[in-house]
Amino acid sequence: MAAITNIDDLKRIYARRTPRMFYDYCESGSWTEQTFRENTSDFDKIRLRQRVAVDMTGRSTASQMVGQDVSMPMALAPVGLTGMQHADGEIKAAQAAADFGVPFTLSTMSICSIEDVAENTDKPFWFQVYTLKDDDFMKRLIARAADAKCSALVITLDLQIMGQRHKDIKNGLSAPPKPTLVNMMNLATKVQWGLGMLQTKRRFFGNIVGHAAGVTDPASLTTWTAEAFDHSLDWERVKELRSWWKGPVILKGILDAEDAKMALNVGADAIVVSNHGGRQLDGAMSSIASLPAILDAVGDKIEVHLDSGIRSGQDVLKALAMGAKGTYAGRAFVYGLGAMGQKGVTTALEVMHKELDTTMALCGETDVNNLGRHNLLIPKDFSGDWQA
Ligand code: GLV
Repeated sequence: MAAITNIDDLKRIYARRTPRMFYDYCESGSWTEQTFRENTSDFDKIRLRQRVAVDMTGRSTASQMVGQDVSMPMALAPVGLTGMQHADGEIKAAQAAADFGVPFTLSTMSICSIEDVAENTDKPFWFQVYTLKDDDFMKRLIARAADAKCSALVITLDLQIMGQRHKDIKNGLSAPPKPTLVNMMNLATKVQWGLGMLQTKRRFFGNIVGHAAGVTDPASLTTWTAEAFDHSLDWERVKELRSWWKGPVILKGILDAEDAKMALNVGADAIVVSNHGGRQLDGAMSSIASLPAILDAVGDKIEVHLDSGIRSGQDVLKALAMGAKGTYAGRAFVYGLGAMGQKGVTTALEVMHKELDTTMALCGETDVNNLGRHNLLIPKDFSGDWQA
């Protein structure tokens, strides 16, 4: 196999090895996918300032996110159905992250359950919750994460109703896949994936099946979200959920400065500037273009993180230099996982770390914590010149 030098190499192998329906699930945005595309193309608009003859020895990418040490400020984002991208996917990705020294965030919509990931990995991970109507289930879910010694709770605020991703509907996305002719023909070409799946029992939504009542088709993400998610979620409820968790709470899905200010009132430890990878409100601004206004509004009062569009160490550097304290990669690690399991996630982390470290050096910086806007050339109209 040719040397893997970048995230796109992993993506190409991932596309070959993983069933089409799960590739499409990962690689889609909602509706026209404008926001999905701009999440990455907006990063390209920012240029880096090259500096020379600056002593570049003794570099460090170590930092902290919500007070926890990280070997680089990039966590693995919560991604639903990760255990369908590769057998035991959440356990494999969590272990790769633990070995690398970055946080792994387990999604509520994972295949491996909270308990299973905790039993089969050796460092605490973060847990992401969706807010559901069933209060007992919510209380138990959060208590289960505490029992599993999760070290932060990420509450997602931007998916009470699911953005429409056309391909998932056309593909009849489910976990496990239904044995239709089209699925069987596609699965027959994914030999390694199939062997892995035959050897594991983890093929269902592990946090849900056997735990949540009243879900008519627990294999279907769309049915489950439509039936179970709490459409009445408001800031009062967020405050209540916050009070159920003793450790750090991170609010994910903030894209507007007004919402960032609201997040201050509920006692969150950090916010994630995010549009859910372009999977929710199509037509919303990219995360990186939304970041400056949010930093101006709350940057000195709360830790600000960013996801949506991070595909390289250079993207991480740009977000940090703009003022984010941490970042998350979702698709980039899934490409590695689907390509080569745990080793692929490690490779994705190594690739991105090297990109971050080398870019830092060529920008004349030796400590990731010293990055700042002085390292960037940001177009004057980067965040849009919108009417009041
Ligand atoms: C779930 O979080 C999704 O975006 O599919």
